[in-house]
Amino acid sequence: MEISVENSLVIVLLILYTLLFSGFDANALPYDYTASIECLKSPLKPLYGGGIIVNLVFDTGSEGWEAYGEAKIELRELVGNKFIAAHARNQPSDSMSQKLNLQQDTLYSFSAWIQVSEGNESVAAVFKTATGFKHAGAVVAESKCWSMLKGGFTSDSTGPAELYFESKNTSVEIWVACISLQPFTQEEWTFHQDQSIEKIRKSNVRIQAVDKQNNPLPNATISIQQKRPGFPIGCAINKNILSNTAYQNWFTSRFMVTTFEDEMKWYSTEGSPGHEDYSSADALVGFAKRHNIAVRGHNVVWNDPKYQPGWLYSLSRTDLSNAVVRRVKSVMSRYKGQLIAWDVVNENLHFSFFESRLGNQASGDIYRLAHVFDRSVPLFLNEYNTIEDSRDGAAAPAKYLQKLRQIQGWARNARLGIGVESHFNTPNLAYMRAAIDTLAATGLPIWLTEVDVQSGPNQARYLEQILMEAHSHPKVEGIVIWAAWRPQGCYRMCLTDNNFRNSATGNVVDNLLRQWRSEALFGSTDSEGFFEASLFHGDYEVNITHPSSSPHSFVVFPINASLQSPVTFQVTV
Ligand SMILES: *[C@@H]1O[C@H](CO)[C@@H](O)[C@H](O)[C@H]1NC(C)=O
Ligand SMILES: *[C@@H]1O[C@H](CO)[C@@H](O)[C@H](O)[C@H]1NC(C)=O
Ligand SMILES: *[C@@H]1O[C@H](CO)[C@@H](O)[C@H](O)[C@H]1NC(C)=O
Repeated sequence: MEISVENSLVIVLLILYTLLFSGFDANALPYDYTASIECLKSPLKPLYGGGIIVNLVFDTGSEGWEAYGEAKIELRELVGNKFIAAHARNQPSDSMSQKLNLQQDTLYSFSAWIQVSEGNESVAAVFKTATGFKHAGAVVAESKCWSMLKGGFTSDSTGPAELYFESKNTSVEIWVACISLQPFTQEEWTFHQDQSIEKIRKSNVRIQAVDKQNNPLPNATISIQQKRPGFPIGCAINKNILSNTAYQNWFTSRFMVTTFEDEMKWYSTEGSPGHEDYSSADALVGFAKRHNIAVRGHNVVWNDPKYQPGWLYSLSRTDLSNAVVRRVKSVMSRYKGQLIAWDVVNENLHFSFFESRLGNQASGDIYRLAHVFDRSVPLFLNEYNTIEDSRDGAAAPAKYLQKLRQIQGWARNARLGIGVESHFNTPNLAYMRAAIDTLAATGLPIWLTEVDVQSGPNQARYLEQILMEAHSHPKVEGIVIWAAWRPQGCYRMCLTDNNFRNSATGNVVDNLLRQWRSEALFGSTDSEGFFEASLFHGDYEVNITHPSSSPHSFVVFPINASLQSPVTFQVTV
């Protein structure tokens, strides 16, 4: 890369390399972000050597394991893999169990490999504790191969607990192998986040100032300023922003990406059949463009029967099918080239309005059609409770993966994305991280698309925990907060009052935005002409002055994860 500016005198070399971590506290066990989403002939080794699970390879028979409920359990072996089987089940929870001791406020990462004797069944792992049942997660287990269940929970109390498994279909046996339960303290959890941020969101940069003859220039004055963050963080908006300067100023000074709360939705753009009105959505797109804010398209259709344009319900199957084709074409061609993503069939796991009217392949057809009208952006699924709530079987990561595979089968070449809405009540960070790990095994981009927390005394604290967990996860590519402002109150969470003074949640967001960008840096080059800094990814402006040259600066200094070391920029002044 060569940037030429007039009056050549100083050459600056930027050498970029990734900071390697070696000197960390040996006592802090690193977190294992891996997950397997293939059904395998043999289970993989238990994570963390099994953690605090006793007799996990069953080398002392079934010691440490007992029957839960009325099931019978036995130790078996199949192609060299020992496992424990629960059969003669009458209740969903009839299974195998192990008694453990849990510590209060400790985060537990759980994993196990599960198989059922017949068919495909959802199997959940549950911990019965003094304060209630903790659902660690669920997997769709198959017969004849092993599926990995990855999950977790935080314990509210110290004391005895019991792990067991649950499957609604009592006519199948539950087989379990390679179980792991690894405790982490809050400090260790935060340490994982810090370590991950250093590795994935920042890069170490070395700048060397040299003169025309390539001699290092010590004592050159250098300043580095971040112009734009690399990691996209945004917030929803609605048409209220168009006529409210205070709202505009508050929003544009913080966010670089947005989603429109309602304005692109079908019920907003086609109030009566054939009468389309895109004026609000167009105006919002224009506003975002003027302020260099990226827009996620939301949404092409919504699978919840409650949120259809009123006139849709009375259509015949053929008319509905035609209306869907017109809708996909109309909204996607209109905004082609102006968006960074589309939520295509919103809430496809909890609802099936279009499947119920048009058949099982309806969503697949809509993604296929979407791929025809805009190939330039990833086509997202968008769902709630996948990372928020381990008890919602309908939207568990395993179900999300099933749906993804279905859609990939119907819309073969479509570039898909994973949207997790993130409407939280009480966050369960161990589950959240494990759920994202599982989704990440697809290799598809993952965004948190609608982050909010129910109101209550812990709203701001929980929001901070969720945003920190998301930003530090190596596979999360962007975050949008769901707090479009309305004078009568936001959906679940506002970041400001009606005068655009931050609420507690707004302060959380501002603090994090500050933490996640590099402060302005000033310094001088050392005796070898070097200046070194660890910088968050983003665009920077660098200014260099040296007595032997006129001061100069250069902009567009993009630091991102894709740069391979060493990278050399030459600037001739
Ligand atoms: C339970 O599993 C068996 C074996 O796969 C299957 O035949 C049966 O249909 C399942 N029952 C239900 C209610 O899904
Ligand atoms: C179980 O799931 C696998 C993979 O999704 C599929 O190939 C298989 O047909 C399913 N089996 C049954 C009995 O549904
Ligand atoms: C470095 O620059 C400062 C101020 O510009 C000057 O006072 C100092 O003498 C310089 N040091 C060297 C070693 O050139």
